Amino acid sequence: MTETAPAQLFDRPEGGERAVLVQLDDGGASLDETLEEFSALAVSAGAEIVDRVVNRRDRPDPRYFLGRGKVAELGERIAAAGADLVLVNHMLSPAQERNLERELGCRVLDRTGLILDIFAQRARTHEGKLQVELAQLRHIASRLVRGWSHLERQKGGIGQRGPGETQLEMDRRMLGHRIKQLEKRLERVRRQRSQGRQARRKRDLPAVSLVGYTNAGKSTLFNRLAESTVFTADQLFATLDTTLRRVPLPGGESAVFADTVGFISDLPHQLVAAFRSTLEEVIEADLLLHVVDASAADRGDQVTEVEGVLGEIGAGEVPVLTVYNKIDRLGQPARVDRDEHGTPVALWVSAKTGEGLDLLPGVVAERVGERRARGRLRLPPSEGRLRALVYQSGEVLEERMLDNGDCLLEVSLPQREMERLRRHEGLPTFID
Ligand code: GTP
Repeated sequence: MTETAPAQLFDRPEGGERAVLVQLDDGGASLDETLEEFSALAVSAGAEIVDRVVNRRDRPDPRYFLGRGKVAELGERIAAAGADLVLVNHMLSPAQERNLERELGCRVLDRTGLILDIFAQRARTHEGKLQVELAQLRHIASRLVRGWSHLERQKGGIGQRGPGETQLEMDRRMLGHRIKQLEKRLERVRRQRSQGRQARRKRDLPAVSLVGYTNAGKSTLFNRLAESTVFTADQLFATLDTTLRRVPLPGGESAVFADTVGFISDLPHQLVAAFRSTLEEVIEADLLLHVVDASAADRGDQVTEVEGVLGEIGAGEVPVLTVYNKIDRLGQPARVDRDEHGTPVALWVSAKTGEGLDLLPGVVAERVGERRARGRLRLPPSEGRLRALVYQSGEVLEERMLDNGDCLLEVSLPQREMERLRRHEGLPTFID
């Protein structure tokens, strides 16, 4: 597993890869599923699962999370299996994590810590790495402040401490300093990214973002479409960073496709926040391709989960085309589903065999391309700029001046352009 440098500041037991998983059983129905999902996460982080411990409890013990008897049993099972890591599928308080580590003499990681570790391994671009490091440091810092009193002791020699300074204060200052540094760098990258987006807008390229539950096949699909070489693997979170490619659409237009981070259930809130700038690519897209593993038993839950995250990051209103992937596993042919207006709403494909992928550019073009909106606009004389923008981006079929000086325009605009002018320039809606 990866280790961040700052974490080595603290004297915690060394972690390894032979892991015992710990799960509370609160009497809920889906224990097996939960354990399976957590096992997949652990394997994805590179862990070898040597044992699983389930504790039947209605609520966690405040000091040790598990009951005392269970902690003793866990200790024995760690020794028997030769494990060097305990992964707990819950959020532990800093004190619980610390107490368990002390009692077990073994590195303990909670769900957030595990996901952060996976993110750290998967980050490939500069921005992704900065985002992960920042999230990790914030995670550590919150623990330092709240529960690391054992570190509050005098340590180090000349030059290593100021008058009366404790190790904890030093650690805190170092962390605080590094966090500020990272925030500044991220701000710079964020600005560059946003300038890139504006440049693409100017050239009027529609933006399409791939979203989906982790392992749905986004990167495989993206590779196929863009003939690019994005890293994929049969592991959760193979993709962490947004990667952009220009893909030609029929009719000579092209669109910019972005591959984004895979979503996962119970993604800790702080992590969603950490990846906000990557996710801005999603919020500002003209169309989302929601890639769904059509062969997954819990595909409905995965869809709901992704929709929840989209809502949370403010992308709930962006138009969606659902791409049901992995139809080779279902033995189903490729097809396009349309709504009652004939608009394509879903596409069934296999990114692996390539079946149905030839349909995708056409379907995307139908959704972001030349779909036009026609209607009447009424603009007051003060809105000369908007009138000019409408002339620039669409066709004005008729223009009439009203007695009060307002102008009445009968216009035909690309749908996407109209939505953009409404969102960013304050274009009013059509009048009846
Ligand atoms: P994250 O990066 O974790 O979000 O995953 P992803 O959605 O990008 O998935 P990825 O493309 O890495 O694919 C996950 C696994 O599914 C890989 O083992 C792919 O080979 C496999 N896969 C992708 N598409 C298909 C498909 O159409 N059929 C089958 N059978 N397997 C597929």
